[in-house]
Formats: sequence, C-alpha cells, structure tokens
Amino acid sequence: MGLVKILSVVGARPQFVKLAPIDKALRNAAIDHVIVHTGQHYDPMLSDVFFDDLGISEPSVHLGVGSGSHGAQTGAMLAAMDGVLDEHVPDWVLVYGDTNSTLAGALSAVKMHFPVAHLEAGLRSFNRRMPEEINRVLTDHAADLLLAPTAVAMENLADEGLAGHAVLVGDVMTDVLYEVRDSVQSSAPPFLAELGLRVGEFYLATIHRAENTDDPARLEMIVRGLSEADRPVILLAHPRLVAKAAQHGIALERGSLHSRPAVAYPELVGGVLASAGVVTDSGGLQKEAFLLRTPCTTVREETEWVETVELGWNVLANSTEQIVGALCRSRPTDTDAAPYGDGNAAAKVVQTLIDR
Ligand code: UD1
Repeated sequence: MGLVKILSVVGARPQFVKLAPIDKALRNAAIDHVIVHTGQHYDPMLSDVFFDDLGISEPSVHLGVGSGSHGAQTGAMLAAMDGVLDEHVPDWVLVYGDTNSTLAGALSAVKMHFPVAHLEAGLRSFNRRMPEEINRVLTDHAADLLLAPTAVAMENLADEGLAGHAVLVGDVMTDVLYEVRDSVQSSAPPFLAELGLRVGEFYLATIHRAENTDDPARLEMIVRGLSEADRPVILLAHPRLVAKAAQHGIALERGSLHSRPAVAYPELVGGVLASAGVVTDSGGLQKEAFLLRTPCTTVREETEWVETVELGWNVLANSTEQIVGALCRSRPTDTDAAPYGDGNAAAKVVQTLIDR
C-alpha cells in the first residue's frame, strides 16, 4: 500500500511559513494531511493570518498549549500528542525547524514507533545556550528521515553520523517566498504610508530571541544601536520583545527607532523589498533578505545560515557601534548563487516521503 497519511506538527510562526508549501504539495499529490497546531503561538497575527494569507488547510487538531516555561510548554505538548497519534495513525510524522513544538512532535512520535521526518534538518549554531540548538540536535537524532535544506546542513549531519538518514531537498522557505514576492512586487506595504516613509529610506528590524531579549544590558545595547541608525528603523515587535522591554523599562520608541506590531507575511516581504536593509536575529529573515537581495545585519554571535555571510549579504553585529556601522555599509556585490534551492523543495520533500 502506498503513502496515505502525513501528520504535521506545527505551533510557531516560522513553522506556518514552512507548512504552506508542504500542505500545497501534499494536496497536489492527493495525500491525506493532518495538521496538528500545538498552540505555542496563539495571537492571530502570529498564527491565523499565516493560514489565511498562505492558503494553508485548517488544522485538524488544536492542542491549545499556549505559553509557559520550556518544561511546562514541551511537557503539555507531549502529554497531548499521544492521543492524537493513536487516533490518526499517520504513515509519517513531519516536524519543522527548531522550536519546542518540533521537539515535542518528534519525541512523542518516535516513542510511539511512528516514522519521523525532520524538515530543515542539520542546521547548527554550535551554541548550546540556545533552546533552538538543543531542539534541533535532539530532533535530528530522534528522526528517521532528515530533510536538509543546504549542503552545509548535509555536512553537519554527516559529522554527527547521520548521513544515512539525510536527503538534500532544498529550502521550502524559498518556495513560499518566491510566490509571495511575485504577488507583492509592485505594491509597497501599507505601514510605509502610515509612517510617512518612502521606499529605500528606512531599515526594517525584528528582534525576538531569548539571548537578545532576556538580558536587560544586551537588549539595551541593541535598542541603542537601532535608535542611533542613520535612517529610520521600523521595528516589527514580537510579543516576547514587547513584554521583556516593558519589564526592563527599555523604551522601544526613541531616536531613529519606531516600533509597531508584527505584520502578516506578505507585508513583511513587501517591507524587506522596500527597505534599505534588514536588522534581525531571526533565521528566516536572514535568508529572506538574502533571497530578496536586501543587505542584512544579524544581531547574534553566530548564524546557522552561514552562506548569507560568506556571500557578503549578511554581517554579524554584537555592539551598538557594530550595529550602527553595519547598517550604513555599502551594498554587497551581486551574486547569482542559490544555496537555498530553486523554489521547488516542497515537491522534493513529498517525493522523498513517497519513495521511503
Ligand atoms: C519561539 C521559538 C523560536 C522561534 C520563535 C518564532 C522556542 C524555544 N522558541 O520563540 O525558536 O524563532 O518562536 O517567533 O520554541 N507570546 C504571545 N503570543 C503568542 C505567543 C507568545 O504574546 O501567540 C509571548 C508570551 O509572552 C510568551 C513569549 O511570547 O511567553 C514567548 O513565546 P514562546 O512561544 O515561548 O517563544 P518565542 O519567543 O515566540
């Protein structure tokens, strides 16, 4: 009997972006797709808008787990998953990226002897202080099939003895980005007019990682860098950042810095296209900036997406001065390198699942 049912476990914003092209490719192949939403992200702007804008099928199951400490959040997902897997009996459980929802999905499935495939396998920051790094390493070692986005990811998996399970499929975020780019190309995002900004005259910023938000001194250093930039900086503020800044008494509205709530995916893509540069700690946005050929400044000590740095489109910055200096650097040399694939990764993922 052929492949009949895939069960995807998702829960956080970047996972909905990755889910979109997979859901579409499974529909095209007439394969039953059960979507389990853990509820890690529940604000409509972090969740529902992605399902609506990207045409993703309604989740079949909502675990409704919500926010909490790592243990409470991951544990609640694990407890809820057993019954879901018993009910749906999938041929493959597909988990995405590196969040607590990824690890919980993989761990529950492997313990119940369901085959697990990890999409975006093999990424490493080699920084064990990041919750995402622990989630990735454990998920890769639990999974039966490792769907790697890049050649570097394949090498990382080989170094850990996992080459036998790994397949290079390309990056599904490229698939969805190219589609959305083509649909927004000509229209500047609404927030530009609202803020009285013109195309090419501002920087777009996002900051949300625990390493950057939880230590008040580090957060203040970053916010100061954004506020001293040579052009206006539009900070699309994740709820975690807003909560931590309020708790530490750090103002997100000062000097060049202007904050507004997170935007939907098409508006984000339009914003990156319209900006003079991006400053971020998001993995997805580093890559999106590169694919749209917008210079990126990454506020982290290291990056998993090393190709963006090697090709000159991304610079790591870890002090106020480095952030200010990196933002106004001159435009990198153009490149036609395509380390993240050609926009057809989801079809390769589905074919790989069928072949196995
Ligand atoms: C999570 C992922 C991170 C990913 C990010 C994308 C983990 C360990 N981290 O981080 O890898 O890059 O998602 O956005 O899985 N909150 C809301 N509304 C929501 C969700 C969260 O207000 O819908 C607030 C709550 O205060 C919550 C905080 O954000 O405590 C953190 O949320 P959480 O899901 O724990 O992690 P993220 O920081 O979003």
